Amino acid sequence: MNPLHTTEGLMQFGLRDRWYPLCPSEHVRPGQLARLDRAGEELLLWRDAAGVVHVQEDRCPHRAARLSHGVHMGDRVACNYHGVQVDAEGTVVSVPGSPGCALEGRRVLRTFPAREHGGAVFAWFGLDESAPPAPLEVPGPIAGEEWAHFLCYVEWDAPYRYSLDNLLDPMHGAFLHRNSHTMFAGKREAVFQIRATDKGFVFEKTDQRGVNFDWVELTEGGAQWVTLDIPYPDTAGPGGPFTIVAALSAISEHRHAGFFWRCRKVSGWQRDSWRFLYRNRLEARHFAVLEQDREMAEAMPADAWDRENLYQHDIALVRMRRLLRAEAAKQAARLTEPAAPAPVPVA
Ligand code: FES
Ligand SMILES: [Fe+2]
Repeated sequence: MNPLHTTEGLMQFGLRDRWYPLCPSEHVRPGQLARLDRAGEELLLWRDAAGVVHVQEDRCPHRAARLSHGVHMGDRVACNYHGVQVDAEGTVVSVPGSPGCALEGRRVLRTFPAREHGGAVFAWFGLDESAPPAPLEVPGPIAGEEWAHFLCYVEWDAPYRYSLDNLLDPMHGAFLHRNSHTMFAGKREAVFQIRATDKGFVFEKTDQRGVNFDWVELTEGGAQWVTLDIPYPDTAGPGGPFTIVAALSAISEHRHAGFFWRCRKVSGWQRDSWRFLYRNRLEARHFAVLEQDREMAEAMPADAWDRENLYQHDIALVRMRRLLRAEAAKQAARLTEPAAPAPVPVA
């Protein structure tokens, strides 16, 4: 069975009816064909002559050769095996070896709605691929002009759900990152609460705010976002706290891509000053913190979820896993339900 039609598969590779970030925009270069595995799909990414990015299945509709091994022709891609040409809509526009054959004019290549935002390419993986996508709604810090942000992109050898766990676990800030420049302060004990929001929940310490990694918000809907604040020390220059907007996508069962938009609400000269400071001093420090997360996630055993003893600080994980599993089960049921019988013609 297609793993994407099972609850477990959807938990591993990501739910359908979601936008997923695939890669930084600059990874899809003009005139080139890029191949990526994301969210359980084998993908071809390319830009047309106008620079618009397209995401399609990396599988020639003729005999399944990799289109990413083909030729970029401006507004279409030609397969290298027998020359079949497919456009950005997924329609076969030419079969050079057999002109006029029935394959020409057919829309047979799976094509995923694609957008670019915040320096990343996103694609929509719908439960019903013929249905239009939901709008790509992005969190405030990467939505508008009042914020400045940098995108940090990583690929880690760990299941994507381990990184999601890590993001929903503020308490590790005070332990794993206690020697960092941003998470040295505050208590090492806490009592947490969960607050429901329109599209997810906030998980927050009840007895400390603005001192360490003290709250996190999960937004589930047309995409899965995690937003959190890390207070900046005075040495990080003027402006508000350091806000991280994170999104993840699975590469395989054991590997995932992480997108961390590092944001600060600053304008005018303060924005220039933060951008300068970030590039020259802060980025390397932030990266060192992220490396601690990577080392922890990559070393986790494959069956980590099977033998845990959770406590109060883990209620966000429990809630998130329950939400995802319920949705995954619903989607798996829809994907495997027998097709409705064809209507019987009335004599
Ligand atoms: S497999 Fe692509 S043209 Fe034949
Ligand atoms: Fe961390």
